[in-house]
Amino acid sequence: MIADLQGMQIAYDDKGNGLPILFIHGFPLDRTLWTAQAATILKICRTISIDLRGHGESQAIPGPYSMKMLAQDCNSLLNKLEITEPVILCGLSMGGYVTLEFYRQYPSRVAGLILAATRSGPDTAEGRANRDKAIFEARQQGVISIVDSMLPKMLAQYTYKHRPELIRPLRAMMLRTSLDGAIGALEGMKNRSDSTPILTSIRIPTLILHGAEDQIIPITVAKAMQTVIFDSTLRILSEAGHLLNLEQPDLFNQAILDFLATSYHVR
Ligand code: MLT
Repeated sequence: MIADLQGMQIAYDDKGNGLPILFIHGFPLDRTLWTAQAATILKICRTISIDLRGHGESQAIPGPYSMKMLAQDCNSLLNKLEITEPVILCGLSMGGYVTLEFYRQYPSRVAGLILAATRSGPDTAEGRANRDKAIFEARQQGVISIVDSMLPKMLAQYTYKHRPELIRPLRAMMLRTSLDGAIGALEGMKNRSDSTPILTSIRIPTLILHGAEDQIIPITVAKAMQTVIFDSTLRILSEAGHLLNLEQPDLFNQAILDFLATSYHVR
């Protein structure tokens, strides 16, 4: 479905009933990342997934796309769907940056957090330089340059070897990202704020999920977040890399189902 959010066409899915969970994908991906989660979780919750601007089927305009802007799009979508009760946000990687920014801006709208393969800190100087290089190459060669450099790092070695059927659809998903969208997101991520200072103020249930073999965001970052978020649980999934929900959907879904049962008595 497509929502017109103040003139910006944003694609989304909205299925099921009950406690709402908004799924926010990473970079350069789209809402189909969450197909396996939506199929299971919609049986007990209202599951909403968004294509961030410039990604998937959503409209692309030139960036930068600040994390604040992307969080505002998520908020506008919830308004459009007339969801007034607090929601659980589930963000993976860049989607996690957006999740923490959303929490910073609209804390009363959030019932819980699921932070997957993400971090609270900003880019390092090296990370910022890498963003500039990726932007430069994408302007020259198109989104394919980003896909070629990121695809070999997105999954665990185990997945490349034992589940090679995941690679082709993942590549297609990455290639659906528009050039404006990819560059806009890279610019936004490069200049994102440090969300670490807000972690100690989080008082809502928080589930942190990380792949044991994540090549993009080190597991130490997830462990550090867990030590400072008051009501948080860390689940590390073995034989999973950066896209742990695609690689180990059953383990990922079970972790969410356990979280929903324990923290919200939803089962
Ligand atoms: C993502 O998966 O969203 C990105 O790898 C995050 C990043 O580049 O910082």
